Amino acid sequence: MPSFPEYRPRRLRRTAALRNLVRETLLAPSQLVLPLFVRPGSGVRLPVSSMPGVFQTSVDELLVDARAAAALGLGGVLLFGIPASKDAEGSGAWDDEGPVCQAVRALKREVPSLVVITDVCMCEYTDHGHCGILRDGEVDNDATLDLLVRESLAHARAGADVVAPSDMMDGRVGAIRRALDAGGFQDTAILSYAAKFASAFYGPFREAAESTPQSGDRRGYQMDAANVNEALREAWQDIEEGADMVMVKPAGPFLDIVARVKAETGYPLAAYQVSGEFAMIHAAAERGWIDKERAMMESLVGIRRAGADVIITYFAREAARSLTLA
Ligand code: PBG
Repeated sequence: MPSFPEYRPRRLRRTAALRNLVRETLLAPSQLVLPLFVRPGSGVRLPVSSMPGVFQTSVDELLVDARAAAALGLGGVLLFGIPASKDAEGSGAWDDEGPVCQAVRALKREVPSLVVITDVCMCEYTDHGHCGILRDGEVDNDATLDLLVRESLAHARAGADVVAPSDMMDGRVGAIRRALDAGGFQDTAILSYAAKFASAFYGPFREAAESTPQSGDRRGYQMDAANVNEALREAWQDIEEGADMVMVKPAGPFLDIVARVKAETGYPLAAYQVSGEFAMIHAAAERGWIDKERAMMESLVGIRRAGADVIITYFAREAARSLTLA
């Protein structure tokens, strides 16, 4: 490699046109997925206090947001449901008339250009807020699989393109794949939250999804933040069980995991820039400590550069807007 003064890297940084020409990582609206929170009723639009611009809405209002997302060229939406009532086993999760299933049907009818992904988990539906059935204070893995299967089937019946299990039970991807195939839904894809870490950065989401565990935490089923080899095993296991795409979550603090999973599996990879990552950028910008627009774009391009094909982010619309204007 030539060295100074032959090699002057600044030559290609001199103008915006030169920088644009040699930029290595591109971000497109079609790679962004917007999470949406849907609840029963009509005309409902409740702000989430810790996440500016994020709302819990009823299906009619969700369509307004989804149309705006489609007009900006976003790749898709990821749906979370807040049921009318919760119980110990989370039976609202497989209600064909629940908010998620209604939203899926409405989206497939009204906004067909968006990929519709549904979050599959029990924590929004259980009265104790854990991601599965509780037995002696712990989440019972195998008993939970049946509930996740029922939830996935309900979403597939409604017409979801992709179901995305986020519960971190062992064996759930295989159980869901077998049930989807047996039910005639062999074309419904699975995006597994393969490496989902027990993270402090989920705080604001739990207000949005009303899913805070009433006792304990999720360290008994979500991954320890220190583990990379285990993340690779999780990703391979989910792929072997039938996952079509895998996810790493959170994104920003786990970019090495994003890079490793992409490099070693070669599978389509999503990374989830979670609520706390979003809230931190907003909070610092509100105080005038950072430039929100630039911090947003830098965080997103960093996630792409690490190897994510798809980014799930609450910034999806803002980022798409700024990409279209740029
Ligand atoms: C449900 C789920 C969570 C998130 C996505 N799916 C919360 C959790 O595990 O507690 C977090 C998303 C975010 O923080 O934006 N299990």
